[in-house]
Amino acid sequence: MHLEKNKTLKALAIAATIPFVLTACASGSTDTSSDSDSSSGGSDSSSSDTAQIEVFSWWTGGGEEAGLNALVEVFNSEYPDIEFENGAVAGGAGTNARAVLATRLEANDPPASFQGHAGLELLDYIQAGQIEDLSFLYEEMGWSDVMPQELLDLITVDGGIYSVPVNIHRANVMWGNPEILDEYNLDMPATWDEFFETAEVLQADGIIPLSLGEQWTQLHLFETVLLGELGTDAYNGLWDGSTSWDSAEMTSALETFNRIYDYTNSDAASLAWQDASQLVISGDAAFNIMGDWAEGYFRVDNELVEQEGYTWAPSPGTAGTFQFLSDSFTLPVGAPDRDSTIAWLKVAGSAAGQDAFNVQKGSIPARSDADQSIYPPYLQEAMDDWASNAGAPSLTHGTAASNGWKAEIETSLGLFLGTRDVAALQDGLVAAAAAQ
Ligand code: GAL
Repeated sequence: MHLEKNKTLKALAIAATIPFVLTACASGSTDTSSDSDSSSGGSDSSSSDTAQIEVFSWWTGGGEEAGLNALVEVFNSEYPDIEFENGAVAGGAGTNARAVLATRLEANDPPASFQGHAGLELLDYIQAGQIEDLSFLYEEMGWSDVMPQELLDLITVDGGIYSVPVNIHRANVMWGNPEILDEYNLDMPATWDEFFETAEVLQADGIIPLSLGEQWTQLHLFETVLLGELGTDAYNGLWDGSTSWDSAEMTSALETFNRIYDYTNSDAASLAWQDASQLVISGDAAFNIMGDWAEGYFRVDNELVEQEGYTWAPSPGTAGTFQFLSDSFTLPVGAPDRDSTIAWLKVAGSAAGQDAFNVQKGSIPARSDADQSIYPPYLQEAMDDWASNAGAPSLTHGTAASNGWKAEIETSLGLFLGTRDVAALQDGLVAAAAAQ
């Protein structure tokens, strides 16, 4: 693994060791279920006919649901006596789901398991004593030997491991319409300057250069622009305090970000990420920046063929860097049927579960022992890049900053969208960083 990735991950792991008081865990944390199958646990003899689990996520729509369904299929075949209840709350990037979840946890009404991003996003739940340490399961299942150390570091807090990562997603991907590229004899833009040149030509012909969706997708764009314009080391330094938010380089990156809005669709605020991807599919837009769940949407939901219906490249300025996030599942303290949740987690952490899930989802498995040959070309490339690229954490998807810091950045971004005032945006970002 590239040195820079290790450095970043180490910094994040250190950040995650902030001392906290874990409240007593009513259901205990050392109890293990009686499963014995080597792949993911086999049938759970302790569960009754009426056992049921409600799994909470935000995977409801195109590019999201197919992966969950594939995982559920593996679960159903291994645990036919446990009924799976889909507790998903719609809304890309979990914008709605996290609010609903917070209310439920507050009311002591946790689902059997909930999806959350591995890393800093889970810290609040851990500090509030709302999720269990799963180290016992890692030991039982031998997962520490099959998951990359950098990922384990990211999910280890004060010696405990609090979630089961099911995948690794890449955030810094630009998706393109191959027909438009052909027609205009263009390559995927390698830098934002190249994008601006191309954008002028496309826009003059009535093509939206870059499609954009609702606000979280703009935060996603924002972080990829910072990565591309500042470079990997400086971007990573934003999160551990070693890069100033107040610099001339940051001003210039924000100006680039601002300029991009001259080449986007005006109805962005009302579009889901899938709608923005659709604009590329239909040829109304040439490019879109989105995490690689979009690959699942293109290939699985829209049945497009790579390089014919869609193409991709690292987002401008980010070749050689893998901006990452990881979806993971948890065991809430007080989960209604703990043994059944453990059965679910075993499937989520299993090779069979991860292969079924990730091929559909457009992500690579968290486990490093997957059979690369069963994955489509984009994902094979992503696996190679994950192994060889520098790493950078995603802000939008819970890896780079605490929930509180992220919320402050989102507020500044929200104000900027109304004003396009770069100086005010930078002031807001500087203040947000200073408050950490
Ligand atoms: C991310 C999540 C992905 C995908 C995406 C769009 O936060 O990690 O799995 O669901 O949101 O909703």
